[in-house]
Amino acid sequence: MKNSIIRINKMKFRYFKKSIFEDVNLEIMKNEIVLLTGESGSGKTTFCRLISGLEKNYSGEIFISKKENNSYTAKERFMEISYLKQEVSGNILGSTPEEDLQISQNRFNEEKDTSFKDKREDALKIYKIESLKNQPVWELSGGQKKRVGLADLYLNFNKFWLLDEPTAGLDNGIINIFMEILKQRKKQNLGALIISHRQEIFADIIHRKLEIKQNKIWDVQ
Ligand SMILES: Nc1ncnc2c1ncn2[C@@H]1O[C@H](COP(=O)(O)OP(=O)(O)O)[C@@H](O)[C@H]1O
Ligand SMILES: [Mg+2]
Repeated sequence: MKNSIIRINKMKFRYFKKSIFEDVNLEIMKNEIVLLTGESGSGKTTFCRLISGLEKNYSGEIFISKKENNSYTAKERFMEISYLKQEVSGNILGSTPEEDLQISQNRFNEEKDTSFKDKREDALKIYKIESLKNQPVWELSGGQKKRVGLADLYLNFNKFWLLDEPTAGLDNGIINIFMEILKQRKKQNLGALIISHRQEIFADIIHRKLEIKQNKIWDVQ
C-alpha cells in the first residue's frame, strides 16, 4: 500500500469572498522532500494552515496519513506532522527556549524518554542557542526565535516536516547546518514540504517541485 502523508481531493478554500484554492488534488508521500513555490499572496501559508488544521472550513477532503484532517485532534495531528510557521513567534510555546523545548518534547512525543535532557542539549548546541536557553523569549531577536523553532523541529526528527520559509532570517552558517540536517533526514527516508524563495539552495535535495498558481497546485516540470 502507498504510504502517503498528505492526500487531497477536490479541495476548495476561500477567505470570505476571496477564493484561495479551487479543485486542488495532490498526494505527497511520507518519504518525499517537496518544494512548494508560488508568488507572494498565492496561498503558501494558507496551505500550511489547512494541512496543520488551523483552517477547517474547506470543502473536499484533506487526509493526513489515513485520517481526514478535521477528525484529528491537534495533538494527534502533531504526532504525524511538525509545522514550522513563517511567523517566528508562533513557533514558541514556552517563556524561555529551554522551557519551550521541554513543552514540545512532552506534548508531541508518545513516550516520555529518559534521554530528553540530552536531546534538548543537542538541539540547543546544533543551532547555537545554548547561551540563550534561559533567556525570556521576548528578549530574543527574530533570527534567534527562528533557531528555537528549528531546535523544536529537531526534537521531532522522525515526523514529516512542514516548513514555511525555514531559512528566512538566518545567516549562512545556520542555513548550512539546517541543510545538513535535511540531508541526514533524506538518508533516513524522512520527508518534508518546504516553502522557500531560496529555491537554489534546495535544488539538490528535493524530489519534486510544486507551484501554486491560479488557485491550483501544479507539479513543475
Ligand atoms: N486570515 C485571513 N483572512 C483573510 N484573508 C487572508 C487571511 N490570511 C491570508 N489571507 C489572504 O490570502 C491570500 C494568501 O495568503 P498567504 O497564504 O499568506 O500567501 P503566501 O504565504 O503565499 O504569501 C492573500 O491574498 C492574503 O491576503
Ligand atoms: Mg507565506
